Amino acid sequence: MKSGFLDKLIERLGRVGPEDVQNYLLQLAQEKGLIETVFNSIQEGIIVTDAKGRITYVNEAACQLFGLQAENAIGKRLDERVRGLDWDALSNSAGPVSRDMEIFYPSNKFINFYIVPLLIERREKQSRARFSHAEPVGHAMILRDITESRRSAEMTIESERLNALTLLAAGVAHEIGNPLNSLHIHLQLMERKVRTLDTQVRAELQESIDIARSEISRLDSIVTQFLKAIRPSKPQLHPENINSIVEEAVRFFAPEIEDRGIVVHQELHSGLPPLEVDRDQMKQAFYNVIKNSFEAMKRRGVLRIHTDMDATHVLVSFTDTGGGMSAENLSRVFEPYHTTKPSGSGLGLLIVRRIVREHGGELALESEEGRGLTLTIRLPYLDKRVRMLEAGNRERSDGQGA
Ligand SMILES: Nc1ncnc2c1ncn2[C@@H]1O[C@H](COP(=O)(O)OP(=O)(O)O)[C@@H](O)[C@H]1O
Ligand SMILES: [Mg+2]
Repeated sequence: MKSGFLDKLIERLGRVGPEDVQNYLLQLAQEKGLIETVFNSIQEGIIVTDAKGRITYVNEAACQLFGLQAENAIGKRLDERVRGLDWDALSNSAGPVSRDMEIFYPSNKFINFYIVPLLIERREKQSRARFSHAEPVGHAMILRDITESRRSAEMTIESERLNALTLLAAGVAHEIGNPLNSLHIHLQLMERKVRTLDTQVRAELQESIDIARSEISRLDSIVTQFLKAIRPSKPQLHPENINSIVEEAVRFFAPEIEDRGIVVHQELHSGLPPLEVDRDQMKQAFYNVIKNSFEAMKRRGVLRIHTDMDATHVLVSFTDTGGGMSAENLSRVFEPYHTTKPSGSGLGLLIVRRIVREHGGELALESEEGRGLTLTIRLPYLDKRVRMLEAGNRERSDGQGA
């Protein structure tokens, strides 16, 4: 804004004729409009309050961050519109204050903000010395969305944690493999001896041996699954039709579907582009997801598998009627070994996420507690020739992020 304009206007105020007023007002309105357009086009949220903490201005970015509507917010106290904000403490500080905060409404975000006291120079007209003093008239609050950078920091921590865990556990898992083998062989030897015994004792021993064997194979599958989860092989990418992988995964469950009396609806989008994926890994991912749905629904129920696409991704979503999960459970499903099942491994979803991420995709869970769960896998299909670099978001070139 031409700052000179206002000053000149103020100087000339005494000489402004009625015919000029309209002209000047128009010019002022235009300048105000320009500033508002500028403020609304910046990504940082801006809120201005008066000395009593009442909102006098809020730009669009701030409205979006806090879920406010400018017309309802103006004139209201900021801490009344943004619950949990300790405005008195923040605004009592003499200088600027900077803090981070987490907001939960309208969506969960992390925000960094700083608050600056606004001072206006007042010239005392009457005084001949024309001395001026700064008068506090309120505060300006500038807000920045730092959700992304925090998330990537969290992801790094998570992947570090997983790496440490991997090293430790891979060693243990490997060590368990050998005694398991040996147990298996000795059970076979026992079985051979048992066959020579008389019938009564033989039946009892055989039963024990069968139980022992099934427990060993369960342990073996846990170890195998675990090693697969923590040492994912690089995907072998080939152009594949996602629908046919879905169908194959479902076919695999045919006996179980029949047995549990479950209905599976496949709503497959016929125009999907072929995707560069590792067919076996993707099948494993779908398999784990479907298995979870069946286990949640137990008997009867409907699993809806829907494939679709948007401008950049192919979407595969699985919606079941298995009751969904609690918020607490939802926040822990990707923790290794977190399971609510008596004989679960707690690794299924971790493997799914690994596979999806290795394919450049992402995973979303939406639970309607009491009703069911929707798990959506998004896989990119656009051949990316150009990748816009986001500031402060370094390319991960080691290829082993979680
Ligand atoms: N479709 C689903 N509906 C309800 N809960 C689910 C569903 N899928 C996963 N879960 C929850 O997430 C947990 C972790 O799943 P997962 O990683 O596959 O391990 P596991 O199946 O061995 O328990 C499960 O124990 C279950 O509580
Ligand atoms: Mg599972």
